[in-house]
Amino acid sequence: MRIVTVVGTRPQLIKAAALSPVLRRRHEEILVDTGQHYDEAMAGAFFAELELPPPHHSLGIGGGTSTAQVARMLLALEQIVVAAAPDALLVYGDTNSTLAGALVAAKLDIPVAHVEAGLRSFDRRMPEEINRVVADHLSRWLFVPTATAVQNLAAEGITLGVIVVGDVMQDLAARLAPTVRDGEPVTALGLRPGEYLFATVHRAENRLPNALRSWTALLGAAASEQRPVVLALHPGTAAALAAEAVALPPHVRVIAPQGYRSTLALQLHAAAVLTDSGGVQREAAWLGVPCLVLRETSEWVETIAGTSGRMVLVGLDAARAHAELARLAPMGDSAAEAARRAQTLDLEPAGAADAISLALEADRP
Ligand code: UD1
Ligand code: UDP
Repeated sequence: MRIVTVVGTRPQLIKAAALSPVLRRRHEEILVDTGQHYDEAMAGAFFAELELPPPHHSLGIGGGTSTAQVARMLLALEQIVVAAAPDALLVYGDTNSTLAGALVAAKLDIPVAHVEAGLRSFDRRMPEEINRVVADHLSRWLFVPTATAVQNLAAEGITLGVIVVGDVMQDLAARLAPTVRDGEPVTALGLRPGEYLFATVHRAENRLPNALRSWTALLGAAASEQRPVVLALHPGTAAALAAEAVALPPHVRVIAPQGYRSTLALQLHAAAVLTDSGGVQREAAWLGVPCLVLRETSEWVETIAGTSGRMVLVGLDAARAHAELARLAPMGDSAAEAARRAQTLDLEPAGAADAISLALEADRP
């Protein structure tokens, strides 16, 4: 089959790095990068690090309001998709690039394949929730990672084309996590394994002024001289902090967005992870590191349940975060725990990439 794949953000480049090589063994893939993420550390660096082949088309559409961004993507993608006349168009996840790709294909009557279909937060204030609901309802193949996702789709009347394949990100994490057992990227940053907390924050709701103040205070309360918080700062969050003149508290150390291996290493060797990221939540679970989710909801119900209490939703409640850290990552234990975790790491691939590639071949339009 000829497949146009639309990517644009950091997690989509990472997911494409897991799926593209497998897809290309059976199918012709035309990779289109909308450029929604454009900084070298958010986009370009992943092509090189993860050996993702360069895109056939780079649209250079990043920044601006969500609506303007999607509108420009629609116009540019339409031309490319018409010229390529693919058998299918594949999108990942729930970003503006996902929405634009799915909508263009649907308007051109080209079947849509949605990887990471069926996830729901049931919170329509989140831009991602709108994007994923629309993409799911436009898709012919709904590649879902979990049983809950199947139920979510059934509740919306979608039962045809739903295929449980597991998580493509697990395939990549299983391949590359063993390469960071030694913690070299951690020590290269001057950190001692088990003696820091790793954080990422980028959800739109966590960039609102009150939320910025709450989570920075939460990180400040969690951080100490003996155990700093290391925050890999998304440029959108950096811009929001600057616009509100919110300063980060002492012992919260900002680092640039990291590469994929470095991020896995920073998680594996941390005392605990604090994040609002969907991808980081799953990776923390796979790596066995305690994780506080800085949100009130999560789409990854099974992920949280599978950690037997090692991952908890704390919202932006500093007292709750403090109590959970004391329970999950007590100060005295965490260096030994991190060392044990790195030694015993045993992560199996999900087989999602193969399952997707085969399912597309088996059900050609
Ligand atoms: C997007 C996705 C989100 C996903 C996240 C992954 C949408 C609506 N949101 O959020 O679901 O979890 O990507 O990281 O699609 N910026 C830069 N340089 C970059 C990229 C972004 O400076 O390379 C800044 C710009 O100020 C931009 C802001 O970040 O306006 C927001 O970027 P955008 O792509 O709109 O959304 P994300 O918050 O990154
Ligand atoms: N990630 C990364 N560098 C960072 C932060 C995250 O490579 O500085 C990776 C992380 O390991 C995971 C993915 O990016 O694989 C998650 O993407 P992100 O948090 O941007 O978005 P989300 O998953 O919430 O959509």
